[in-house]
Amino acid sequence: MKLFIKTYGCQMNVRDSEALAGLMTAAGAELVNSEAEADVMIFNTCSVRDQAERKAIGKITFMKKYKKLKPELIIGVIGCMAQHRGQELLEKIEHLDFALGTGQLHRLEEVIEYVRKERKKAAWLEEGSDVLESMGMHSDFQNKRLHTGSIAITRGCNRFCSYCIVPYVRGREFSRQAEDIVAEAEMLAAKGVKEIMLLGQNVAAYGCGGNVNPPPEDESPFGDLLQQIARIDGIKRIRYTSPYPTFFTQKLIDIIAAEPKICRNVHLPVQSGSAEVLARMNRQYTPERYLEIVQRLKSAVGELTFSTDVIVGFPGETDADFACTRDLMNEVGFDHAFIFKYSPRAGAKSALWQDDVPQEVKEERNQILLADLEKRSIAGNLACVGRTLEVMVDGVSARNPARWSGRTSTARTVVFKYKDGMRPGDLIQIPIERAGRVTLFGPGLIGADEEL
Ligand code: 5AD
Ligand code: SF4
Repeated sequence: MKLFIKTYGCQMNVRDSEALAGLMTAAGAELVNSEAEADVMIFNTCSVRDQAERKAIGKITFMKKYKKLKPELIIGVIGCMAQHRGQELLEKIEHLDFALGTGQLHRLEEVIEYVRKERKKAAWLEEGSDVLESMGMHSDFQNKRLHTGSIAITRGCNRFCSYCIVPYVRGREFSRQAEDIVAEAEMLAAKGVKEIMLLGQNVAAYGCGGNVNPPPEDESPFGDLLQQIARIDGIKRIRYTSPYPTFFTQKLIDIIAAEPKICRNVHLPVQSGSAEVLARMNRQYTPERYLEIVQRLKSAVGELTFSTDVIVGFPGETDADFACTRDLMNEVGFDHAFIFKYSPRAGAKSALWQDDVPQEVKEERNQILLADLEKRSIAGNLACVGRTLEVMVDGVSARNPARWSGRTSTARTVVFKYKDGMRPGDLIQIPIERAGRVTLFGPGLIGADEEL
């Protein structure tokens, strides 16, 4: 079987596709990079924003031409949009053969066989936790950085933020067994992986039994897991995304402070800086509580960068609410953030409220935050000039093949000259000579583009 997999959405989806590629190749499939070659096509989809759904539907619709050329071609939609709208898509798109939900991913081979034999459409959408332990396979597919590897440690989400569809499409929150996660990390280390990324909708709630309240301050099952992974020889760095802010207990903060392998960048989704908006979003913290967590992290860990997710134009967001978001972002000093314009998602609670912030206002607020971010990012980069930073080598720079690039523990990108023997995954010391908008430059890069 020649299998083509296209992935949309978050890092969890990328990881799921990689695990499925591993499962399918172990079962004898061959992965292909072009649609024209495929006899099975899989679209792993995202439902978080309307745009993501429309993009995937457009693509799947366009695949009709291949089905015409090759009637035995099997086309399937999997993941979040399959879960959300699988039935409807199968009815509307004649050439679509199956929809495999987020709790059924591990049954990909089975559903393909079913469609092939029965010549019937299939919608396998039951929620289930079997998927949890069945997705530990790894393949090099989709992962261009072979010295990095991701591990899904939790699945699903119990938080029900009012704007978010994830709890409906990814189901209840489950944590995997620590032994299995550590074994997977050891296996990746044995394959040469140097940096592990731990994934989950709320990674910091790992091992908390799906409880929406954080554990006591002197506990953190997630911190314990970080410590176990940090003990693995060969693993030099550990990253994780995304944690819910209130799960940063003192224990977790202390573990991060004490373990240099845990990266000095925290992606801490804030969503809004207004207490009223946060309450309507069903986020379980106030801006003051969020800032207090940031402060505790900063004082315990030392050098640390923060990034975040923010939604602009949530129903009822006033100019004053937006000003609070802007102030909070300034106070934390985020130099990287994903800013989203609110879009209602059918099924999520806020979809029942009027989407009353005009598109132009959403756009304007988006631009204001982006401009603030750029200023802070430049200032942060300039402050690195003259320092020598430890960089993990990623490989040849995507922008300029004459250079190599890597990242600091604080998630800054550094571009430098290749030296004999350098390999992806190495940790090297680079004296920073110049700063760009999004990049730092090592010595001897004359005429570096993007310079300030
Ligand atoms: N509209 C806009 N952004 C959203 N996000 C989630 N749901 C929505 C929505 N309905 C954003 C949140 C989340 C990120 C993954 O996507 O900021 O953290
Ligand atoms: Fe969505 Fe909130 Fe869960 Fe994140 S924590 S996946 S925003 S419901």
